[in-house]
Amino acid sequence: MTLYQATASAPVNIACIKYWGKRDTKLILPTNSSLSVTLDQDHLRSTTTSRADPSFERDRLWLNGKEEDIKAGGRTATCITEMKRLRKQEVEDKQPNEPKISEYSVHIASFNNFPTAAGLASSASGFAALVSSLAQLYHLPVSPSTLSLIARQGSGSACRSLFGGFVAWEMGSASDGSDSYAVEVAPQAHWPDLHALICVVSDDKKGTSSTSGMQRTVETSPLLQHRIKEVVPKRMKDISKAILDKDFDSFARITMADSNQFHAVALDTEPPIFYMNDVSKSIIALIVEYNRVSVANGGGYKAAYTYDAGPNAVIYAPKENIKEIIQLIVKYFPQHEGLFKDVFGLFGGADLNS
Ligand code: PMV
Repeated sequence: MTLYQATASAPVNIACIKYWGKRDTKLILPTNSSLSVTLDQDHLRSTTTSRADPSFERDRLWLNGKEEDIKAGGRTATCITEMKRLRKQEVEDKQPNEPKISEYSVHIASFNNFPTAAGLASSASGFAALVSSLAQLYHLPVSPSTLSLIARQGSGSACRSLFGGFVAWEMGSASDGSDSYAVEVAPQAHWPDLHALICVVSDDKKGTSSTSGMQRTVETSPLLQHRIKEVVPKRMKDISKAILDKDFDSFARITMADSNQFHAVALDTEPPIFYMNDVSKSIIALIVEYNRVSVANGGGYKAAYTYDAGPNAVIYAPKENIKEIIQLIVKYFPQHEGLFKDVFGLFGGADLNS
């Protein structure tokens, strides 16, 4: 008997230009394009195994060992249905001798090696790994951009985790979502000197989910309308150029400005949403001062902070600055030593002991 099973893993990505707002909540079509860096390290990954078998009575999902409901018409169900449809369309209809495994139910087990829903984009790696494992199970001859169309319907940001390196999610304009997918801006090898530190300020579950937060922002924030029309299109162009030119000053300026505006838009929501806490804000002040001193001494920017829908800081910096940044944070936040049990490097890693 043939065993139809496949395992795939996908890393977390952290946006420099934030996705915040849906123009279609069912298809998950965004109100603006976004751009992220995929953190290609072992520490921040979802690993997912899928199995198809004629004896399975229904699709089932286990997340970190606990069975989760697959709600009919919900996001997980949509991703599974879409992947089965692709298997039929791309493999079984074209090659009638291939087994019709799209007709079998699937059992899916997924593990995150980091806290779920703590502002560390677990839904991004989770849905990207789910779609990737089904793509392997089904031997789908399709591109990561095509898979990103499906991962997007699980969680918007998941579409960007189908690629490594620097990734744009083009918002598209079609009402069926067919042109709202992820594309590679540059591979990781293009700028290996850029590292990321994640300072886990808190690994509590976040207060306002991105889904309800976005909906409220779209409904109530005038600032969001300005952001999506006047601000993001230019930033997308400028940051892509900064990445292609390996221009850290521009990359840092745009990344920090966009994080600030995303949190301003959250504050502009009725009722307001606060994702950062006092430690997050103090880390911002520290990075601002660190850059100010460097620029005053004739140098350039040395680090850039960014925050998603939670209090944890992600700091992008050239590799040579990482050790100094860790020393600074340890010096100014001694009461938060726990912060550093979870500091991860991107593209090679920051070794805290060196
Ligand atoms: O994909 P979601 O629904 O988890 O939303 C992610 C939103 C942010 O992380 C705040 C921004 C982004 O672009 O990843």
